[in-house]
Amino acid sequence: MAILPILTAPDPRLKKKSLPVAAVDDELRRLMDDMLETMYAAPGIGLAAPQVGVLKRVIVLDIDREEVKTGPLFMANPEIVEASDDDVSYEEGCLSVPEHYSDVVRPATVRVRYLDRDGVQQEMACEGLLSTCVQHEIDHLDGILFIDHISALKRNMILRKLLKARKEKERDAAEGKPAAKPNETAPAP
Ligand code: NI
Repeated sequence: MAILPILTAPDPRLKKKSLPVAAVDDELRRLMDDMLETMYAAPGIGLAAPQVGVLKRVIVLDIDREEVKTGPLFMANPEIVEASDDDVSYEEGCLSVPEHYSDVVRPATVRVRYLDRDGVQQEMACEGLLSTCVQHEIDHLDGILFIDHISALKRNMILRKLLKARKEKERDAAEGKPAAKPNETAPAP
């Protein structure tokens, strides 16, 4: 397994629509395993393939909270087949939008259909953090980030800060300064 570099916004690859996978084969399982290891190392609770620059409809998740413990989940071609009418607001973050958080409103519960790591079709009812996380990751497959759900004013402010942080990092690297250790933050999808 390998830890893959995670793209951060603004990056045009994060805005692209990913393509469905034809089959879950050994090559795709290798990608899934690499994504899971990358997610654990970050650390995060969800990761979508476009976040590591692969435009395939694949997500991985592992949620371990008091209310829900999923263990590792691998989903190819995930799609929401049912969503509740009632919404819930949850403070989201994202490994591709490091150190920024914002409340996002989404359907409270969803039903997701996907191919598992063996290529077998599964359906899962999701609520709570799992529901939020599944919707957040599927958004990535359509080129949508959580900041696309918030006001343009707040989104542009976050994107400007991310660009500034990246430029400072590049300048420090050019001057041979050691990379600053990122702040320890809550695991983000
Ligand atoms: Ni994300």
